Amino acid sequence: MSLRRLHHEQPASFAYSEANKARAEKEIAKYPPGRQASAVIAALWIGQEQEGWVTKPMIEEVAKLLDMPFIRVLEVATFYTMFYLAPAGEHVVQVCTTTPCWLRGSDEVVKACKKHIHDKPQTVSADGKFSWEEAECLGACVNAPMIQIGKDTYEDLTGEKAAEIIEAIRRGEKPKTGSQIGRTSSEPAPTVLKEVQS
Ligand code: FES
Repeated sequence: MSLRRLHHEQPASFAYSEANKARAEKEIAKYPPGRQASAVIAALWIGQEQEGWVTKPMIEEVAKLLDMPFIRVLEVATFYTMFYLAPAGEHVVQVCTTTPCWLRGSDEVVKACKKHIHDKPQTVSADGKFSWEEAECLGACVNAPMIQIGKDTYEDLTGEKAAEIIEAIRRGEKPKTGSQIGRTSSEPAPTVLKEVQS
């Protein structure tokens, strides 16, 4: 289960930059008067892009901006794994550990993250490049186990393959996304097809 709470030391304050304040206001203007709370995800996302993570003062500022109780904004920030509640690395590795991924070996993927990033989740690696965290189902169960890094997913993993992907990104390379065993989307694994053909 991922640790999604405000447990990290917090900065004293938060303010949107002028440009980001304008972006947030543009998002708010998309909704009818009195419905500005609908812009909560966008407002948090813009804040996270600015600071690298979602801080408590940021949540307070968003609550003020959208005229929402603090707890309602906190609920959103803690529910969605797209929001980082502690300082994050340049690349955040989200490891799905929900049952299908767990049954297919996500423990080995977690071990690889501990070895190649940091022993603790939501902790930035020594080179500042990575942090990792457990996540609930990320929607690629058919190719379990999997990780998501930014907008990319890497599927059909082993611990070894996950480590290779992390190290390739560390070197500035762009590893192949999707299935790591050559499947297109979620087609049957190549071994199954060979058995059928013979
Ligand atoms: S259970 Fe891991 S992607 Fe759905």
